[in-house]
Amino acid sequence: MAGEAAEPAPPSLAELQELGDRFEAVVAALPDRAAWEALRVLWVGRNRGALRGYLDAIKRVPGAERRAYGEAVNRLKARVESGLAAAAERLDSAPTAAGEVDVTLPGRRAERGALHPITLVQREVETIFAELGYSVAEGPEIEDDFHNFAALNFPADHPARDTQDTLFLEDGRLLRTHTSPVQIRTMLERRPPIRIICPGRVYRHDNDLRHSPMFHQVEGLAVAEGITVGHLKGTLLAFVQRLFSADTGVRLRPSHFPFTEPSAEVDITCPFCHGRGCAVCSGSGWMEITGSGMVDPRVLRGCGIDPEIYSGFAFGLGLDRVAMIRYGIPNIRLLFENDERLLRQFVWAGSC
Ligand code: DAH
Repeated sequence: MAGEAAEPAPPSLAELQELGDRFEAVVAALPDRAAWEALRVLWVGRNRGALRGYLDAIKRVPGAERRAYGEAVNRLKARVESGLAAAAERLDSAPTAAGEVDVTLPGRRAERGALHPITLVQREVETIFAELGYSVAEGPEIEDDFHNFAALNFPADHPARDTQDTLFLEDGRLLRTHTSPVQIRTMLERRPPIRIICPGRVYRHDNDLRHSPMFHQVEGLAVAEGITVGHLKGTLLAFVQRLFSADTGVRLRPSHFPFTEPSAEVDITCPFCHGRGCAVCSGSGWMEITGSGMVDPRVLRGCGIDPEIYSGFAFGLGLDRVAMIRYGIPNIRLLFENDERLLRQFVWAGSC
């Protein structure tokens, strides 16, 4: 048989199937276009491509098996063609080799996040009170009647307990309507002297231009021997002068809260006109900023603190209102709409 190599025997049907499987494993792992081209030539190259050889070999298949053989080779051809096309698309859409990346293009800048204005003022308030010796306490947003109302001396028929104001859950618990329950949790857990603030979300059945069903408060509580209204006023004065400006004044107006006696609303010098009178403060020169008072002896006693020995003051500050004043935001709902046109303005403030 000198000179001529014997024609190879045509592959069996099982071999054709296995060839297809192996091809698919290889084509899926191709690293780049150069490897793709080499594989293409190997399989579908016009002269020596493997598929050409398998097609030509049909002549050597016995007549009865020819049809099945032809079909199997065509199936293999289809697998090879679609495998090569899919790999070409993958390699073109995801350049991996350094040479395929245009390094002269400007980089894509990572979007920079911003802190929400409420987070910013919350941190500011926390910093100021930390410097005055306060620590930050936390409590759950889902509360029970005891902590949210009863222990705070709310009478059973107080309108705040009404479903018109309070969002109740099906099991009788409720979304806290204020941060004051954290006073109770703290006093039940710790002995005086106590100095805490508690920033957090609170919820009420309220929704209009000036109210949002979810808003933020900062509760403050100081309990020790000999605490007086003077300490309350001095503390709030130090706080607002740090937060707004050194010429800010504070005035207390008599009010009522079930858990304080006496109770007061706290006004500060209008930060916009510095007391001269403007549209924001309706010409009065003052702006209401928080409720406050001396902790009612009944509340202290209920928490196991002897009111004959200890006294305390408390306040509940509307954090959203402070943020609105601080950043000149006219409408509370703007704070919760997640409109990037507002939020983007705090990028730089948030990074310092
Ligand atoms: N919890 C009151 C409210 O949500 C605010 C408040 C008033 C809190 C007086 C206090 C306080 O701690 O002493 O309206």
